[in-house]
Amino acid sequence: MGVEICVEGLTKSFGHQVIWQDVSLTLPAGEVSVMLGPSGTGKSVFLKTLVGLLKPDRGSVKIAGRDITRLREHELYEVRKLFGVLFQDGALFGSMNLYDNIAFPLREHTRKSESEIRRIVLEKMDMVGLIGSEPKLPGEISGGMRKRAGLARALVLDPEIILFDEPDSGLDPVRVAYLNQLIVDLNAQIDATFLIVTHDIASARQVPDNIGLLFRRELVMFGPREELLTSEEPVVRQFLNGRMQGPIGMAEEKDAAQVEQELAQLGNGSTQTPGSQALTPRLLPGPGILRPPRWNAIAEREAELRRRKAVADV
Ligand SMILES: Nc1ncnc2c1ncn2[C@@H]1O[C@H](COP(=O)(O)OP(=O)(O)O)[C@@H](O)[C@H]1O
Ligand SMILES: [Mg+2]
Repeated sequence: MGVEICVEGLTKSFGHQVIWQDVSLTLPAGEVSVMLGPSGTGKSVFLKTLVGLLKPDRGSVKIAGRDITRLREHELYEVRKLFGVLFQDGALFGSMNLYDNIAFPLREHTRKSESEIRRIVLEKMDMVGLIGSEPKLPGEISGGMRKRAGLARALVLDPEIILFDEPDSGLDPVRVAYLNQLIVDLNAQIDATFLIVTHDIASARQVPDNIGLLFRRELVMFGPREELLTSEEPVVRQFLNGRMQGPIGMAEEKDAAQVEQELAQLGNGSTQTPGSQALTPRLLPGPGILRPPRWNAIAEREAELRRRKAVADV
């Protein structure tokens, strides 16, 4: 089923620089959650704190009930086996072919035989559509293939939790669409809790069960996808609709006067574009892949919200 991650009052700073403070949220077991935020808001720092690579100043991260911020190094080592992490660039070893890259965690962390390793590596390579590319070096393949190889490597230890750091960065829109489909399909096929950090709004609108938004050192909101997509909260509205007007500026933080002026505009609805609050349809698992049981409940929730708010579909 994957495991639940419960974050409470989490605060992280480097020296005098507070990255984010008092972040509390629960990533439900087996669900896909997206953490959105402008560049530099500490999304990668958040992922590293969840796996215990960085220590928070305050707060707790409970994974299956255990607070990992209080574990000793050897205990953390065990907890980390629950995680598969897809780093921003795939983080593959440049001198190793894809097969050996993907086999690496199995050789490092298990005593499996080479024939067993081969079975697992090929199974995961098949899941991400990389069969036939075993002998290729990371430098010989496209960015999209490197991400998929990184994903296959993140899958080999059958993780309970998979963390994706900007899986869509550096990819063209077609590759992003394929990768999003792969993420939805994988979530339907394996029992793991997914957390994706990204600044890509289109992906955030279609892929997850839950969305969170980090902005100005705070978690502005975290909740079910349909609630965030139809939220009236100005920062959430601006970010999820990709608008120029609003509290988020090019330089990330605008001066207070400009923010106030724009918020006033947002408030009187003059910048409202038709369909901007629309409940984008979810990306469905591909043909032949069963939808997870929770999907029925989510569809009912969304239908109820449509009735209540009379929001449009696009
Ligand atoms: N190890 C570190 N030491 C000091 N500052 C760091 C460290 N890691 C990240 N930061 C700072 O934390 C902030 C957030 O970084 P990051 O999490 O990479 O942002 P994002 O992933 O949202 O783009 C940045 O200002 C960055 O310089
Ligand atoms: Mg980052």
